Amino acid sequence: MFQKSLRMSGKGSVGIVGSGLIGKSWAMIFASVGYEVKLFDVEPSQVSTALENIKSELLEFEEAGTLRGTLPAVEQGKLITGTSSLKDCVQDAIYIQECVPENLELKIKVWTEIDGLVDETTILGSSTSCIVPSLISEKLKNRERFIVAHPCNPPYHTPMVELVPAPWTNQETRDTTRELMSAIGQGPVSLSRELPGFVLNRIQYALLNECWRLIRDGIVSPQDLDVVMKDGMGMRYALMGPMETIHLNADGTQNYCDRYGETIFNVSSDSGPVPTGWKQESEADRAEVAALHAALCETVPLEKLYERRVWRDKGLAALGKLKRDLAKSAKDE
Ligand SMILES: NC(=O)c1ccc[n+]([C@@H]2O[C@H](COP(=O)([O-])OP(=O)(O)OC[C@H]3O[C@@H](n4cnc5c(N)ncnc54)[C@H](O)[C@@H]3O)[C@@H](O)[C@H]2O)c1
Repeated sequence: MFQKSLRMSGKGSVGIVGSGLIGKSWAMIFASVGYEVKLFDVEPSQVSTALENIKSELLEFEEAGTLRGTLPAVEQGKLITGTSSLKDCVQDAIYIQECVPENLELKIKVWTEIDGLVDETTILGSSTSCIVPSLISEKLKNRERFIVAHPCNPPYHTPMVELVPAPWTNQETRDTTRELMSAIGQGPVSLSRELPGFVLNRIQYALLNECWRLIRDGIVSPQDLDVVMKDGMGMRYALMGPMETIHLNADGTQNYCDRYGETIFNVSSDSGPVPTGWKQESEADRAEVAALHAALCETVPLEKLYERRVWRDKGLAALGKLKRDLAKSAKDE
């Protein structure tokens, strides 16, 4: 039923609940392709700040040539409005993207309220980074239309989203959310079932664990390790994932495994357990974290974090433009 209404009504209204870092970004993404967006926050001043920032960022992106979508920045901005009423935000929305802080009790509270306000066609999406959808949605009466839509940060410049169903999420919701995310340019990654960390964070944590072990054991400095990623592997990964990378690094995946499989198995078997430093339970753990923190502060002092984030986001925007241009020229060839 939802799929039909989405396809027949054309662009509809999307409700964003929570207008912080992630909510603001989702609002801009939906507006970029013409959806009307209603932004709600428990803190009304947050909504006004988000609306102001959205308007200036859209103009800035337009100026830099990194604006998403085809509508002019001013038109995109007009599609986003704020509201101080949760009901107004979610009622009649075709899709809701919840972006409140990462706290299970709060998410359950907010979703219980939304559950009583929506009609029976609205899709219910949560931006949660780590909470599995069954924990948030178990008691909702509309739980078959609940799904996690987890973006990468900053979502506007990292155009992907993980779609994680609860056991009771129906197929129509899984399919329609995937279609919607493709339509807004947020490349969907569909998981068949929920699991801790989803896919993005499981990969990120596996990588971080190896990095931690190599630094802790004095094999490499944090700064040199970052060079491996940003000037080595990361250059490739900005264009293609690790699976396509191995396919290209030999004469196909079969040949890659024939050539390197045993080495990969042996080296990986030497990797060691998850570092206990993450938990900071012992003196030694805390000393490891303090040393790592101090080393990173040499690269970016805490007072320069904001500046460095702005630099990163500008770089990501330029990279996104380059990738779009490359995709376009490949299509034109
Ligand atoms: N920041 C990231 O890197 C990142 C990446 C991907 C996903 N996420 C997830 O996105 C969600 C939001 O994260 P964020 O970084 O935008 O947080 P944030 O703190 O920047 O924003 C949260 C907003 O929610 C509002 N809020 C709090 N209680 C509310 C309520 N009851 N109703 C409506 N609004 C309420 C706050 O006022 C605030 O404006 C979290 O679940 C987080 O895990 C974050």
